[in-house]
Amino acid sequence: MPATKTVQDYIRTIVDFPHEGIMFRDVTTLFADPRGFRMAIDQMLHPYAGLRIDKVVGLEARGFILGGAIAHQLSVGFVPIRKKGKLPGATISEAYTLEYGEAIVEVHDDAIKAGETVLVVDDLLATGGTAEAGIKLIERLGGKIVSCAFVIDLPDLGGRKRLEAMGMEVHALCA
Ligand code: PRP
Ligand code: ADE
Repeated sequence: MPATKTVQDYIRTIVDFPHEGIMFRDVTTLFADPRGFRMAIDQMLHPYAGLRIDKVVGLEARGFILGGAIAHQLSVGFVPIRKKGKLPGATISEAYTLEYGEAIVEVHDDAIKAGETVLVVDDLLATGGTAEAGIKLIERLGGKIVSCAFVIDLPDLGGRKRLEAMGMEVHALCA
C-alpha cells in the first residue's frame, strides 16, 4: 500500500524564482490536487473548531484561494488584502518589505467592523513582512485577530518570531 501523502508532499520547490538564490515554494501543485487541497483546508481549520471567527482575511494572492475556501467552510465573510491600486473603494494602506522586494498592501476601510474577530490566512510565512502589514491594517480598522494560519512557515526567515512578538498566534502545516 502506498504511504499516506502529507500536505508537504504536494508542494514543490522552484530554484531561483523570482530571483537567483530564492527557493520558491510553489503551492499550485497542492491546490491542483483534490486530496491535497482538501487536506490543507481541513488541517488549517482544525485549531479553530468552536472559536468565534467573524471574518477571514486573505493576503494576496494565494491567501485568496485558501482564505476563500476557509471562509466558505466557516460560513463567514471573506476580506481581501490587496496590493496597492487594485481595490475600487476607499482604502487604508501599509508599506512593507518581504524576502524579495517591497510592496504596499491595502484593505477597504469598511471591510471589517470594530470588534469583529478575524482569522488571517496566507500560503506562506517568510520574513513576516506581508502578514505584519496585513495585521496592522486589520487592527487599524478595530478587528481582533484570533490567529494567523499558513500552509508553510520558513522558520529561518523569522516570520513566526516577528508575529509572535506582536502577540499573534501562528499556525502552519509544514516548514
Ligand atoms: C508571498 C507569499 C506571502 C509572502 C510571504 O507572496 O504568498 O504572501 O510572499 O513573504 P514575507 O513573509 O516575507 O512577507 P508574494 O509577495 O510573492 O505575492 P503574490 O502572492 O501576490 O505573488
Ligand atoms: N514568499 C516569500 N518567500 C517565498 C518563498 N521562498 N516561496 C514562496 N513564496 C515566498
